[in-house]
Amino acid sequence: MKKVLVTGGNGQLARCLNDVANPLTKYEFIFAGSTDLDITNTNQVNIFFDQNSFNYCINCAAYTAVDKAEEESERAFKINATGAENLAKACLVNEVTLIHISTDFVFDGEQVCSYEERDTTNPINVYGASKLKGEQLIQENLSQYFILRTSWLYSEYGSNFLKTMLRLGNERDQLNVVSDQIGSPTYAKDLARAILKIIEIDSKDYGIYHYANSGNTSWYGFAKAIFEESSVQIALNEIKSEEYLTPAKRPYYSVLSKKKIIEKLDLNIPYWKDSLKVAIKTLNKD
Ligand SMILES: NC(=O)c1ccc[n+]([C@@H]2O[C@H](COP(=O)([O-])OP(=O)(O)OC[C@H]3O[C@@H](n4cnc5c(N)ncnc54)[C@H](OP(=O)(O)O)[C@@H]3O)[C@@H](O)[C@H]2O)c1
Repeated sequence: MKKVLVTGGNGQLARCLNDVANPLTKYEFIFAGSTDLDITNTNQVNIFFDQNSFNYCINCAAYTAVDKAEEESERAFKINATGAENLAKACLVNEVTLIHISTDFVFDGEQVCSYEERDTTNPINVYGASKLKGEQLIQENLSQYFILRTSWLYSEYGSNFLKTMLRLGNERDQLNVVSDQIGSPTYAKDLARAILKIIEIDSKDYGIYHYANSGNTSWYGFAKAIFEESSVQIALNEIKSEEYLTPAKRPYYSVLSKKKIIEKLDLNIPYWKDSLKVAIKTLNKD
């Protein structure tokens, strides 16, 4: 039976993986939260890998507070870069395939067509820089890796844009949302299914991949779809990024090209609005 370690086991993506992986009885999944396994603790990582024989490690552990990272740069790099390096080194020694999650924020957003895997990276905030460093350290230390860059993740778990909008929709009569940043909202359960497909088909096509739901929109468009789908009445106003200043700059355009992953994994990628409907339905059931 293949043994799969999921780090950051209590986070949004890990919890989606748990839901999606549940019916797959031919794999044993070990979900390790940050108190079970701190990926920045080299010794702990080495011992954890030594005591178990994993076939895969899915790294869902990350420092994800994009704005806070501007003032906690050291911590962001420790988790997103050194943590990833620790896992890569342990994977090499133990012959484990690493599936690591990265971000559209490795790009500067100046492009006008979707970003391919080989396009030049140029992060414009600390979080993006720390995630890029993590990618580089994995590539320097390991060859059996999949790095999946994704964007605008949401689900019924944790805190994310969908849940924030639903909360604000209950609290307010009107809301201003940025309309000049374009990207692809991605349901974390769809990403989880793509990750599991890599394992199920035992792919050896290692490398960097982009995965996001198909289609794209602005944060305003995303919010509008959320309110329409959940029948929330609210006055929604479009604003520009310069009217909503945040500590971290965000790329204006971060749509990822999915061509490579569709071809290599023979994937059908759901349209973002269809997945949003599924997520809202699931939230309403809970
Ligand atoms: N969310 C997005 O919009 C988005 C977009 C693009 C890419 N991504 C990437 O997608 C991946 C999954 O994101 P997510 O939304 O699931 O993030 P999340 O909900 O914030 O989960 C991250 C998890 O990492 C854990 N963690 C933090 N430091 C750790 C450490 N030193 N050792 C072990 N675990 C640690 C956290 O545990 P504690 O809470 O206990 O600290 C948390 O459970 C990340 O790599 C992220 O960079 C996310």
